[in-house]
Amino acid sequence: MIEYDVIVIGAGAAGLFCGIEAAKRGRTVLVVDHANKAGKKILMSGGGRCNFTNLDITPENYLSANPHFCRSALSRYTQWDFIGLVAGAGIDYHEKELGQLFCDHSAKDIQQLLLSEIERAGGNVQLNTDVAEIQASGSGFNLTLNATPAHCQSLVVACGGLSIPTMGASDFGFRIAEQFGHEVLSYRASLVPFTWNNKNKAQWSELSGVSLPATVTSATKSFSHDVLLTHRGLSGPAMLQISNYWQPGEPLTIDWLPSINVAEQLQKDRHEHGKKQLKTWLALHLPARLAEFFVAELKLQKTLAELTKAEVHRLAQWLNAWEFQPGGTEGYRTAEVTIGGVDTLEVSSKTMESQRQSGLFFIGEVLDVTGWLGGYNFQWAWSSGWAAGQHC
Ligand code: FDA
Repeated sequence: MIEYDVIVIGAGAAGLFCGIEAAKRGRTVLVVDHANKAGKKILMSGGGRCNFTNLDITPENYLSANPHFCRSALSRYTQWDFIGLVAGAGIDYHEKELGQLFCDHSAKDIQQLLLSEIERAGGNVQLNTDVAEIQASGSGFNLTLNATPAHCQSLVVACGGLSIPTMGASDFGFRIAEQFGHEVLSYRASLVPFTWNNKNKAQWSELSGVSLPATVTSATKSFSHDVLLTHRGLSGPAMLQISNYWQPGEPLTIDWLPSINVAEQLQKDRHEHGKKQLKTWLALHLPARLAEFFVAELKLQKTLAELTKAEVHRLAQWLNAWEFQPGGTEGYRTAEVTIGGVDTLEVSSKTMESQRQSGLFFIGEVLDVTGWLGGYNFQWAWSSGWAAGQHC
């Protein structure tokens, strides 16, 4: 019989962090994972450099059916605490943009930091481990680890979501939650590129590789950042950010020239630079391939003076308020996160403990808390893992 005070299921960001904190309190801790490596998503994150937190963490950077849930943990274990840990370990890092902190060298630095911290605290990590037959017992939980019976007082579910199935992602955390009577709110792939609908694909896929700053707006939110056109659809940070707020079936509006009111500027420039070709005017403001595309699609091989009012209006619509009806998203294959998940209404925001089953904890992405792109999701993993680690 394997016996620990705390068994954590999932050796990802949240699970490892919780394991460190619980072991530091003197609890005997085993963190198990069915994958052959701990922290696989850490290793592939941030283009191999791990965007491990953000200088500007606020609850407003997170989405949840229960928006206040994340406040407590984020305020008790902050980005400054994690930055202190990283700096104290001698890991070099830098701010890339928008407060996003990345390792100078490699995401492996963060994975190694967590593994050495857990070892130092006396916790154990066991990989290639199948977890099954979880049952509450009077004094905690019985379960099997690779078919060997195990028992723990506290069971921490840190199984993450469904994104990148090839990295070990599974719905196991959701199933454990349901087994203990928790509601799992509807979930979907997020922080994910969009795909073309059939009509747009024929028109736009030739522009693959073009990238430009733009403003993307959903029914409830706008983001201004780069948009990347690909063969499959639209990607880049602005598109990934808006995917958190997009509901399937909804259109998005894209302003390809957010700094210019096209109708006003064209009216002005028609008088002052009437002989200028529209293509030349557009190429002053947009990548040349995109400028050529708009002129060809709208059949406007003309000078500015030759544009009719209706043509100016149509062009302004395309440039400042192009309506994009996504075919869908690329799904879990490339999504950075799963949005939705275990309903937080029956989980303590202070301890992450289930209010339905004493000794059962949920942390990280398995919960219905999803951050923006930019280090917010790792910070949630650290903060929620820390909170559970003080109580499990
Ligand atoms: P995580 O997914 O990290 O860990 C869950 C663990 O549970 C995994 O190790 C898995 O193998 C294990 N598991 C699942 N089912 C199991 C089962 N049945 N039995 C045993 N173990 C099981 N965020 C950010 O803030 N900055 C960034 O730079 C990036 N970059 C990024 C890139 C890519 C490509 C992806 C896919 C994601 C990101 N993210 C990110 C998001 C970030 O990786 C994510 O939010 C956290 O890893 C979530 O941490 P968790 O510990 O909750 O889940």
